[in-house]
Amino acid sequence: MKIVLASSNAHKVKEINEIVEKLGYNIEFILPEGDFDPVEDGNTFEDNSLIKAKAAWELTHTWCLADDSGLCIKALDNRPGIFSARYAETPQKRIEKVLNEMKNINSREAFFACAMTLINPNGKVEFSYKGICEGKIAFEAKGEHGFGYDPIFVVKNTNKTMAELNDDEKNEISHRSIALKKVLSYISEAHLAENE
Ligand code: IMP
Repeated sequence: MKIVLASSNAHKVKEINEIVEKLGYNIEFILPEGDFDPVEDGNTFEDNSLIKAKAAWELTHTWCLADDSGLCIKALDNRPGIFSARYAETPQKRIEKVLNEMKNINSREAFFACAMTLINPNGKVEFSYKGICEGKIAFEAKGEHGFGYDPIFVVKNTNKTMAELNDDEKNEISHRSIALKKVLSYISEAHLAENE
């Protein structure tokens, strides 16, 4: 079964296909052809995930999965949240901005969220789920793996930032893998792949 991933991010499709393969599902995620850049003007991760999934369906009229994710910091009223990707110009500047805003704040609880929406070939929402990964904002960046805010996100019950975990370790606990596993179980339990 092929599913169009509503994204233009090659890193994301690679990460997702690695998880799928490791779990032994016969599903391949592919990117839409050409530029894919719908306007994400929703107010929640769920809204934006639905916007992206519908936009991919409009282009392909086939199975489409979208995800929308970001970092929510409780002391900052859940910012950067849906603005995570555009909180500052570069990944480095985004990290510096968060560390600066958190400079004098002791309460550092945060979570990554990932909302996924699966649309069927009829254009209807088939399944949706939001995965959460809890942790804390570090006082300084650490680690070389991953992307985005990984170097400043200390995973709950560990002393390690997300960027100190290798790909397999991150895929065990990440918000994206939690949501993806729910989507894959749904596809399997509903026998959707067998009809394709
Ligand atoms: P989108 O879901 O592709 O719209 O982008 C979400 C943004 O949230 C990314 O550009 C990152 O800044 C941040 N983000 C989402 N997931 C992760 C993660 O696993 N690690 C670090 N940053 C993330």
